[in-house]
Amino acid sequence: MTRNEIEAEARRTEGATTPRGRILVVEDEPALRELVARAMRAEGYEAEGATTGREAIEALAGRLFDVVLLDMRLPDGNGVEILRRIKERDAGVEVVILTGFPDVTNAVEALKLGAYDYLSKPVDLAALTRLVAQILERSRLREEVRSLRSRLGERLAAREFVAASPALLAVKAVLVAVAPTSSTVLIEGETGTGKEVVAAAVHRLSPRRESPFLPINCGAIPSELLESELFGHVRGAFSGASSDTLGLFRAAEGGTVFLDEVTELAPSLQVKLLRVLQERQVRPVGSTRSFPIDCRLVAATNQSLEEAVRNGQLRSDLYYRLNVVRVVLPPLRERREDIPALVAHFLRELNNRFGRRVRGVSAEAMEHLLSYPFPGNVRELEHLLERALALGATEEIGIDDLPDLRPRRLGGAESPLERAERETILEVLRRTGGDKDAAARELGISRRTLYRRLHEIGVEGAG
Ligand SMILES: Nc1ncnc2c1ncn2[C@@H]1O[C@H](COP(=O)(O)OP(=O)(O)OP(=O)(O)O)[C@@H](O)[C@H]1O
Ligand SMILES: [Mg+2]
Repeated sequence: MTRNEIEAEARRTEGATTPRGRILVVEDEPALRELVARAMRAEGYEAEGATTGREAIEALAGRLFDVVLLDMRLPDGNGVEILRRIKERDAGVEVVILTGFPDVTNAVEALKLGAYDYLSKPVDLAALTRLVAQILERSRLREEVRSLRSRLGERLAAREFVAASPALLAVKAVLVAVAPTSSTVLIEGETGTGKEVVAAAVHRLSPRRESPFLPINCGAIPSELLESELFGHVRGAFSGASSDTLGLFRAAEGGTVFLDEVTELAPSLQVKLLRVLQERQVRPVGSTRSFPIDCRLVAATNQSLEEAVRNGQLRSDLYYRLNVVRVVLPPLRERREDIPALVAHFLRELNNRFGRRVRGVSAEAMEHLLSYPFPGNVRELEHLLERALALGATEEIGIDDLPDLRPRRLGGAESPLERAERETILEVLRRTGGDKDAAARELGISRRTLYRRLHEIGVEGAG
């Protein structure tokens, strides 16, 4: 056994009896950092140190800590700013601020950003240890409640919306701003980019949160059925209609209706929906009466609405009604900064669900994830991690726990330069919608060269 293996084994056996916790000590003063880290280890926790904000953020990439002890004044920036970035990276980690300069404004700011507590220096080690124990106990209880709930089959309708990239932070700001209004929100994005999460967040952040959130997939239900699903029907309206039904719009009274894949609505239903939105009332199938509705509409589509209007799939008057507040979710490959934060989020959830304590993904695996184009977007990332845990990853998700995602050149690993080139080529191809002639022009290379590179990259269909 190597020393590392012995240590790992010791940690494993020790872990069975001692309370476990992973602590990151962010402090530029080496003596203090060591002192605090040693105090944490003496409690049976794993402790690691970071000297700067940047080191702290790097330490958090793809790895889960339970508690971060964060010095307020670091050589490379203000603690409040670093706290904000830590929380973006991993909303689940608890942060305790340590400072030599008690400053009320900063303290308030830090607590608002989700810091757990604020301790002033000189650090009282006994108080700090008590606080950390309390945090760990509280997280343990919270996890227990959560896993009980998920075992009871409760669907987490209120799933957290993770955002770390500028693009998604902007989306989040829009959500926070529009949620309290009753404006119609239209969400556009490829499959798996989080349209339903966003729709649920709009509902959850709105005053309507106590009323129902009712999603319906317009593409999955035949239009005859869909009409009565949406607007209800009266008894005898058609064979099989044995009693009156409310329909989604009335059932969602006070809440939110989420029309998924709205461009799939049949033309006749588009007309009816338009009228409902204009008059704010519905007429059930077979009824002569109309009923007022009070619900917010959120709609989603995975194709461009303009495109749908242009090719006659979507009525333009409905388009204008729906296109009030527009939220565009870029594909994951265009916002890779979200990947570490999503990994942390999903790992916390999966650890909970599987009863594991996977500590993160290896640097190599993270690099792999960061360079993969994710055609299935966030859902695909979630499934990759779930698969890794299901196949038995217990400590850390390594490269071998991930399926071989990367198209590789025959005869060896890709160099960073080759990777940059491949990414550029694929990026341009996406932009040109797969038009190789246009891509070659944009890249300033000949068609022949492009075809050869595509072949080397292993892109299918390259001639
Ligand atoms: N920003 C995010 N934060 C947390 N989880 C996310 C985020 N975006 C997506 N997810 C997760 O990824 C999965 C796919 O998201 P969602 O179902 O909302 O995608 P979608 O855009 O509606 O996809 P589709 O077009 O296929 O219906 C879900 O499990 C969701 O919880
Ligand atoms: Mg969806």
